[in-house]
Amino acid sequence: MISAHTIENFLGKHGFDWRRCSSWLDLACGCGRTLNYLRFDVPPSRLNGCDYDRSLIEWCKQHLAGIRFEKNRRSPPLPFAENSFEVLYSISFFTHLDEAAQAGWLQEFQRVLKPNGLILLSLHGEALALRKNAYLPSRGFEHHRAGWAFNNQMTYQTEEYVRREWGRDFKVLAYESLALDSFQDLVLLTPAGASPDLNRPLNPHVSADLKEAWARRPDLHQNFDSSGIGKPDSPWRNLSLLDWAMLHGYQEMQELRKYGPGR
Ligand SMILES: C[S@@+](CC[C@H](N)C(=O)[O-])C[C@H]1O[C@@H](n2cnc3c(N)ncnc32)[C@H](O)[C@@H]1O
Repeated sequence: MISAHTIENFLGKHGFDWRRCSSWLDLACGCGRTLNYLRFDVPPSRLNGCDYDRSLIEWCKQHLAGIRFEKNRRSPPLPFAENSFEVLYSISFFTHLDEAAQAGWLQEFQRVLKPNGLILLSLHGEALALRKNAYLPSRGFEHHRAGWAFNNQMTYQTEEYVRREWGRDFKVLAYESLALDSFQDLVLLTPAGASPDLNRPLNPHVSADLKEAWARRPDLHQNFDSSGIGKPDSPWRNLSLLDWAMLHGYQEMQELRKYGPGR
């Protein structure tokens, strides 16, 4: 919920009337955590999601009706035609990729993006590296390899790196430190020659349910370990982050309430 509203408000704040956006792609959509909420503000027929994990895509197809989901391969190309999307976003994906993989995906985005399309990515930035005591060399990019799990590979990069390296092929329209849940940075890009219509800033929309979820944010960072498993001393100890996301998506289901904090 926070991701969907943050994306809407970030695009709106920077002048893009996302309500008119005709085609969206959520790359590495996981269990559809963001699309699950975007679909209440945007007609689902405009939404697309892909991920390389077949089980997640199958789950999304069963539970998030009306949205097109495709399984993609580990490396580009994506299973979509060129000029397909007006907005392509990806949350917590570049945060785990090495430099070559990021470059490959950025190149592929240019193919599937419509002329004047926008790319919105979440990144682990400098402020988070400081908070986590993570090494970030002066060049501004560091990829830590750890084990085999995708989520354990950690990438940190600076705004300066993004502007310098990505600025060759893209215009950096906006960069905000810790803009996503006070944790990841957000960057808004468009291909170098493009000129998107960014003349309609929208007032942020903050719904009551978002405020409620926002108040619970510490749950995410204090109660789950880096693999997304509830810590032993946490009220969410029996849940994974995926369960947590689902729970927050289905709060109206009485039978799930017993899993809430402190139960
Ligand atoms: C940290 S999760 C984030 C999921 C989702 N974006 C979210 O915010 O809930 C990373 C996701 O990237 C997916 N992934 C990893 N490598 C991928 C690749 N090469 N192509 C597509 N998806 C990939 C994983 O399956 C996983 O769903």
